[in-house]
Amino acid sequence: MILITGGAGFIGGNFVHHWFERCARLSLPEEPVVVFDKLTYAGNPHTIGEHLQAGRATLVQADIADREAVRQALATHRPRAILHFAAESHVDRSIHGPGEFIHTNMVGTFSLLEEARAYWNSLEGADKEGFRFLHVSTDEVYGSLSDTDPAFSETTPYAPNSPYSASKAGSDHLVRAYHHTYGFPTLTTNCSNNYGPYHFPEKLIPLMILNALDGKPLPVYGDGLNIRDWLYVRDHCEAICQVLEKGRLGETYNVGGINEIKNIDVVTTICRKLDALRPRADGQPYESLITYVKDRPGHDRRYAIDPTKIQSEIGWKPAETFESGINKTVQWFLDHTDWIDTVRSGAYRDWLDQNYAERA
Ligand code: NAD
Ligand code: TYD
Repeated sequence: MILITGGAGFIGGNFVHHWFERCARLSLPEEPVVVFDKLTYAGNPHTIGEHLQAGRATLVQADIADREAVRQALATHRPRAILHFAAESHVDRSIHGPGEFIHTNMVGTFSLLEEARAYWNSLEGADKEGFRFLHVSTDEVYGSLSDTDPAFSETTPYAPNSPYSASKAGSDHLVRAYHHTYGFPTLTTNCSNNYGPYHFPEKLIPLMILNALDGKPLPVYGDGLNIRDWLYVRDHCEAICQVLEKGRLGETYNVGGINEIKNIDVVTTICRKLDALRPRADGQPYESLITYVKDRPGHDRRYAIDPTKIQSEIGWKPAETFESGINKTVQWFLDHTDWIDTVRSGAYRDWLDQNYAERA
């Protein structure tokens, strides 16, 4: 089995769905997963509820910085790989309170690495040879690009600008050092901005969809001309599966959507989709809700990924265009008000107490 930290979050949760669908599609044995997740505000067991209920996935609610809990989970479940998604992930929150970001992204990753290394050292033969630690990171570690700079490659120097990206850069360096010093079998992926189902509505795309549906202002930071390279979350999940299978130990792979888009264009695209799918009662276009607001301090101007390495070495490329991915995303949010309610009301915590306390 594989152990997934942060598997109740946005990308980790999508990964759990992708994993089982992929096993079925490729006629692979259904390999179970253990989700190791603290269930912070961003973690929601509803996201993976069907797999928990079917017994394919097991939830361990704990902090990656709790070494005893990590040790126990590894000893009990004996995974062949650890996929490390758990993180504090929102730049704006890192500006208001960096402490949690240092705790989880740096201290937590360090604790996980220490316990994973001890576990790996206890393995023998093919189990030890085949073990993998895949660290999921971000393109934000490379800093900000001007409009004319080339896209980030794996050799771009690190220049993180926010407490979030600095804490992720620190975790990347630890992972690199554990491979270099101890020969620990690591793989690292640095991806661009993800979007898709189960996206927590504090991030740009889900926030805009839900605010629009509520008739609330659509807050665009600064001049709205910042650029992100949007990656559909399932494309990212498939990239992780392929890096896990084929990646060279100690290497990093950049994963990008080949979709550089200005924020204002993302927001107007969402507005137009909603105009077509769910027109407003007053007949006004959703774009009339767009409101420019004060910029984020230190706001990175542009991110873009050069995916040449993962394309040529691993053979992965994104399947979705922004047009196809945003259509799926908007439709998913229109169809899943039940999930949105669990996120908004916090009822998922009650659901957890009712259904999982006794199984912990
Ligand atoms: P998320 O915030 O939606 O989910 C994070 C998950 O980690 C949650 O389930 C949360 O409960 C869990 N978690 C947080 N602190 C924990 C701790 N101390 N111990 C155990 N679990 C903890 O994040 P996401 O968007 O799914 O991101 C997943 C990974 O991908 C992160 O490492 C992030 O840095 C990286 N990433 C995300 C994006 C993006 O666009 N979302 C882009 C690039 C990289
Ligand atoms: P976000 O989803 O927070 O991801 P990141 O900061 O990690 O790239 O933001 C994406 C872009 O959207 C970023 O340039 C900030 C901008 N943004 C807004 O303009 N308004 C908002 O309300 C939010 C949340 C983000």
